[in-house]
Parts: sequence; C-alpha cells; structure tokens
Amino acid sequence: MKSIPHPIQYQGSKRMLASAILKYVPDNTARLVEPFSGSAAISIACAYRQKSSEYWINDANKPLAELLRLIVDSPLDTAAEYERIWNAQHDDANHFYQVRAEFNRSQSPYLFLYLLARCVKGAVRYNADGEFNQSPDKRRFGTQPKTMRNNMMNMSALLKGHAHFSSLDYRHVLTEVQSSDVVYMDPPYQGVCGERDSRYFSGITHGDFISTLDDLNAKGISYIVSYDGRRGDKAFGESLPKELALLHIELNAGRSSQSTLLGREEITYESLYISKALAKRCMYPTKCYREHTAQQLTLLQKVSRYA
Ligand SMILES: C[S@@+](CC[C@H](N)C(=O)[O-])C[C@H]1O[C@@H](n2cnc3c(N)ncnc32)[C@H](O)[C@@H]1O
Repeated sequence: MKSIPHPIQYQGSKRMLASAILKYVPDNTARLVEPFSGSAAISIACAYRQKSSEYWINDANKPLAELLRLIVDSPLDTAAEYERIWNAQHDDANHFYQVRAEFNRSQSPYLFLYLLARCVKGAVRYNADGEFNQSPDKRRFGTQPKTMRNNMMNMSALLKGHAHFSSLDYRHVLTEVQSSDVVYMDPPYQGVCGERDSRYFSGITHGDFISTLDDLNAKGISYIVSYDGRRGDKAFGESLPKELALLHIELNAGRSSQSTLLGREEITYESLYISKALAKRCMYPTKCYREHTAQQLTLLQKVSRYA
C-alpha cells in the first residue's frame, strides 16, 4: 500500500496531522481507542504504521460509525453502492437534494457517504431538527468510484478483524478503557461545542469533558487530546486546566487557507495534550525541542510541561 487510505471526506479530519500525533502513540500499543473517531483518520494511520493490533472506533453519529464498519467489513459491496449512487447524479440535476432528503428519512450510511463526498468541504451541517442540510459543491462530483473502491479496500485490509465499531456517547466508551490502551480524543471544536451545534449531530460540554479526563487520570489511563489552538496570537477554544497535569504540545498546522488568501503569515497551532500515564510510558523528554519533517506541513512541535 503506497499511501494511507481515506475513503471519507470529513471537515476537521486529522489526516494531515496524523504522523505528528502518532509520535505519542507507543509501538506495540495493545489497543487504540477513538471515542470521537469522525473519519477515523488516526486509527487508519495507526494501523498503516502497525503501531497497534486492535482498534475501537466510536462516533456518536450513527450513520458515520455504521459507514466505517461497512467499509471495513464489506468494502466491495459498499464501493458498489457508492458507485450506483454516484453514477445517478449525471442524469439528474436534483440528485444531491433527493439523496439528502432520503438520507434524512432513512439514515442510510451509503447515502451519507455520497453526501460527504459531494457536499461543500466535506463539512457536515445539521438543522435544529437534526436533519443534514449541507449543500452540494457545484464545482465537483465527489470522489471517483474507482478511487473510492481502492481507498475502501485498503482501509479494510488494514482494519478488518482488528476493529470494533460503536456509536455511543464518549463517556460510555471511556468507562470501559484499560490502562494498556491508548485513547485518542478529538472532540467537536470549542466555540461550537455545546449540547447542540450545527457541525455535529451531538456535542460535549467543557465541564463534563474535564471531569471525564480527571476520572481517566485517577485510573492511570494513557490518553491524547486535540483541543484548543491559536492562530498567530489569537487563541481559539479554552485550554485544558493545569490541574489535569497534562503535557502540552503545540503542533504547527501551517497557514490557514484564509491567511494565505489575505497574504498573512499567521500559522495555526493545534494543541495536543498528553496524559501523565502516557508521558511516563513514552519516557517523554520534558525539555522543549523542535522537529522538522519532510512533509508539506512542517511540524514544529514546541513542548512545554504543565505542573
Ligand atoms: C472533530 S470531529 C473528529 C474528527 C476526527 N479526528 C477525524 O480525523 O476525522 C468530532 C467528532 O465527534 C463526534 N461527537 C460529537 N459529540 C460526541 C459525543 N458526545 N460522543 C461521541 N462522539 C461525539 C462528532 O460526530 C464528530 O464526528
């Protein structure tokens, strides 16, 4: 396999930061758990690098979690369904809207895949009734069926027989994790967090999340959290409190497309927090360091230590 497969287009996917994030996942991890899997970019990249042999992929969005399972367990059937739905768009200008209406009735994961592939920026949006209401991107048709099939077969080759899928609230997943696991958490963006927001079907509250992390600390669980960040000097999202005693790392995510358009030099940094149990397990250096990779997104990882 020449590259890491990504069948699902998903705004907020961590695929571009996966190699930077996976540096904090030890080799021979018994199980990687993703309670907020989205497109499962981190599990896929972790399996590609053979860092773990078991995966628990969870997302509160049921059609999304079911789609991930179908891709892994039945890639050819899922690819054939995608091709059928994708081909039908050429005969009907209203195809996207019909698929969207049908999806809102049936919650079919196959229809959801086409909507994600074809909608603006792969960005899910829901109205107040929980209906998917994103528009189609009129400039493109969505991933070609042949590319989709290859991506699905490769994702399946990496995860089939090694992955468990569920659609639970993250708190439920976290009550069942073990100290031999590594948990990667990428909750919905703050600022749009809350019990209900239009970006995701479900949400979290900052307070609940902090108290859940506190419980994980008490149980000695190894975990990584993507949370707040900053662009230039402007912070977005609340940072995690010092009392959680986490290692704080800033990943350089490059210049945002908006900054580039405006001719600005502002770099976006995304925070990564490492639990004490994981930092110990990795014997992670506490001094600041800088690191470069050959990737387009140069990773400058500044490490500072909380308490
Ligand atoms: C920022 S996205 C994760 C993106 C993912 N890291 C990727 O690479 O694609 C956050 C995900 O959390 C899910 N989510 C929101 N609230 C949740 C909850 N209470 N429990 C579990 N998942 C939840 C959303 O459906 C969404 O897919």
